[in-house]
Amino acid sequence: MEKLVDEGKAKSIGVSNFNAAQVARILKVARVKPVLNQVECHAYFQQRKLERVLLKDNIRLMAYGPIGSPGSTAALTVPGESPPPVLLADPVIAKLATKYQKTPAQILIRNLLQRELIVIPKSVTPSRIRENGNVFDFELSPEDTAVIENIDTDQRMFKYHIMVHAPDFPFNIPV
Ligand SMILES: NC(=O)c1ccc[n+]([C@@H]2O[C@H](COP(=O)([O-])OP(=O)(O)OC[C@H]3O[C@@H](n4cnc5c(N)ncnc54)[C@H](OP(=O)(O)O)[C@@H]3O)[C@@H](O)[C@H]2O)c1
Repeated sequence: MEKLVDEGKAKSIGVSNFNAAQVARILKVARVKPVLNQVECHAYFQQRKLERVLLKDNIRLMAYGPIGSPGSTAALTVPGESPPPVLLADPVIAKLATKYQKTPAQILIRNLLQRELIVIPKSVTPSRIRENGNVFDFELSPEDTAVIENIDTDQRMFKYHIMVHAPDFPFNIPV
């Protein structure tokens, strides 16, 4: 990847699903350091600790699954466990959606943007793509962002359980 940057074929390098120890490890050897780490991040899994670790090295956190990945429930369900919670149906988020006259998805996306994270909601539905982009005409108050901070459960939805025994599996440690 560094060679691609040298050759002008890539502008910068990003990593994904790296834990804090893996970020530290790559920074020790990188000549071109990664500019971002793409990880699961949403109101139920806010990644505040990893965010702080990354900030120290000026690495941005890119939030995947920002509205709770409602289309992936089957894939995310670990056999024998309950399916992941439906973030879009959270009552706290629903209340804020009513207050700001926005949709739950817009509240969730706006909250991550106000944390200055990079947010990548995905949709194949044109109306939802427009909806998800329509988040720049309102601002959540500090009191309301604090309310959202309180619904963090610190539980991943993306457990990648089939890879749990892989070398360097990143989620065996908390951050
Ligand atoms: N690096 C990784 O390991 C990793 C892991 C997971 C995801 N990602 C990436 O992160 C991005 C987003 O993650 P994600 O797709 O899992 O999660 P997401 O953006 O939280 O959720 C996407 C799902 O929500 C639905 N949706 C989108 N906007 C909506 C809205 N306004 N109201 C109701 N439903 C809405 C979509 O349905 P429709 O498409 O049917 O509209 C889709 O099923 C993707 O680009 C993905 O490739 C990376």
